[in-house]
Amino acid sequence: MCGIVGYIGNKQALPILIGGLRRLEYRGYDSAGVAIIKIQDTDSKIQMIESVKAVGKIDMLADKVKDKKLDGTVGIAHTRWATHGGVIEQNAHPHFGCDGKLVIVHNGIIENYRELKEKMKDHKFVSETDTEVLAHLIESHYDGDLKLAVETALSHVRGTYGLVVMHADHPEELIAARLGSPLVIGMGENEHYIASDATPMLAYTKKVMFLEDGEIAEIKKDGVKIYNLKDELITKHIEEIEWNDEQAQKQGYENFMLKEIHDQPTVFEDAIRGRVNLEEGTAHLGGLNMTDDEMRSIERIVLIACGTASYAAMVGKYAFERLAGIPTEVDYASEFRYRDPIITDKTLVFAISQSGETADTLAAVREAKRKGAFVRGIVNVVGSTIARETDGGTYIHAGPELAVASTKAYTNMVAIMILYAIQFGRLKRVTLATGQRLITALLEIPEKMNKVLEQNDKIKDLAQKYKDCKDMMFLGRGINYPVALEGSLKLKEISYIHAEAYPGGEMKHGPIALLSPEFPTFAIMVKDQLYEKMRSNIEEVKARKSPIILLATEGDNCAKELAEDVIYVPDTMELLEPLLNTLPLQLFAYHTAVMLGRDVDRPRNLAKSVTVE
Ligand code: F6R
Repeated sequence: MCGIVGYIGNKQALPILIGGLRRLEYRGYDSAGVAIIKIQDTDSKIQMIESVKAVGKIDMLADKVKDKKLDGTVGIAHTRWATHGGVIEQNAHPHFGCDGKLVIVHNGIIENYRELKEKMKDHKFVSETDTEVLAHLIESHYDGDLKLAVETALSHVRGTYGLVVMHADHPEELIAARLGSPLVIGMGENEHYIASDATPMLAYTKKVMFLEDGEIAEIKKDGVKIYNLKDELITKHIEEIEWNDEQAQKQGYENFMLKEIHDQPTVFEDAIRGRVNLEEGTAHLGGLNMTDDEMRSIERIVLIACGTASYAAMVGKYAFERLAGIPTEVDYASEFRYRDPIITDKTLVFAISQSGETADTLAAVREAKRKGAFVRGIVNVVGSTIARETDGGTYIHAGPELAVASTKAYTNMVAIMILYAIQFGRLKRVTLATGQRLITALLEIPEKMNKVLEQNDKIKDLAQKYKDCKDMMFLGRGINYPVALEGSLKLKEISYIHAEAYPGGEMKHGPIALLSPEFPTFAIMVKDQLYEKMRSNIEEVKARKSPIILLATEGDNCAKELAEDVIYVPDTMELLEPLLNTLPLQLFAYHTAVMLGRDVDRPRNLAKSVTVE
């Protein structure tokens, strides 16, 4: 997830662009850059584009541009959250074509960028990014008409984009296009703005136009023309934004956690895009850096992580064992590092971390490497220490997660581990038909997640009903036991209510003694192979008069007989259940915490990145 800003008008562009980037810094913050059209020679009207880039926060860029005379009233800028290529200046946007006249900023992922690059042998590339390939592609189709060049180039592209293109020979226009990555145009008096969301322009205008997928905009000082997929000029509604800055960053949500919970369908798509192949019924995660033979030789997988990431890992264990038949252990990183773990050259260790900086996980990575394991990362923050110190792995593409309590990163960690399990499984015992069923079911997940999120109000009512309880029990079995653990962690860390989580079958061995009418239970009883077993466990809970919230599969009429409060989730394949079932638990914790007046984005005693032991 990155941020785009563009300006065309009569004011100096630089302060608007830098100010705009600061507003967008929450979207990504590993590097940034700006490009401005400069009138070099007023008489002959020669224009050139000047660009400055810097690694690090926007302040680094602001410092760097101070000494340059970046005068000009047309420009584009970008703050990057790396997806392709490391965090270095060359990979920061804007990216140029060969002749230095065409420049682009882009959000999204160009899936076929390698193929496209292969075909442009006569072009010189200076970065590792998919975006630079797009700049060259547009340049190769340019013949005096910038909009036409963008349209033609985009017809060859597979993937997603929100992009703005600028050309030295067209100082009177910016061309923008959207497919899957948001863009907003700000309407001023003889000036226009464009950005990934409305925050950079709120200081100047509240009148905006939202580009839709497939639309292309021709933005000039004195007007904006929007074309649809069929290249027809269309009329768009101008909307009035009522948000202030902070509300706009949160895209209208009350806080980052709620926004990030609702981001999940979109970022899940980002995680699997270009990585699954329905025809072959498999997944391809190139970053693994292992040959098929090396993959087949793996005898044991160890998943090391902390907190929420460790619960994602527990889901991963089920997937690896069931699909790939490889014995898999989950270890808290803080335990692993001191346990003298048994590691052989046939052990594959995955370190799972949102921040990529967690000290315990990092130390465990170093220990596993020392002992000769294959060590790979499943990480969100690009260029983070764990990403750099592992010998490969996969970014989960969840985008910046700003709320301290992890939500969307968990979902994408689970997604990536399922993809890995399919990839290993297809080399071993998973049939083409099973692989295809899994991929089909994965592709249906975003829509089903949306159906779960639509129940927000109902879950809020349940939070209202249970918010004053002092304790809560979470129960699940099989692949839903880690879901119960995650639900219980979310509730305790943001609401400060005491919560426990157990496998349903374990209750009778002790914890059931806790239950009473004052100690409610949140139980996951979806239609999978353990349904009947879980049902009996819930009967036991009911007999102890613990009030029950039940998570059940849509159409399960028996659920109402067991519990007064039921949340229904769509059916999916058993291995994918956590991708849906965790969401209502996140929402329940969130609403409970808000009702208790907690600071949900910054709960007490916690930090987003735990870089100490
Ligand atoms: C819980 C939470 C923490 C983290 C844990 C690991 O909501 O956020 O439990 O999951 O500290 O952090 P990362 O994934 O950054 O290694």
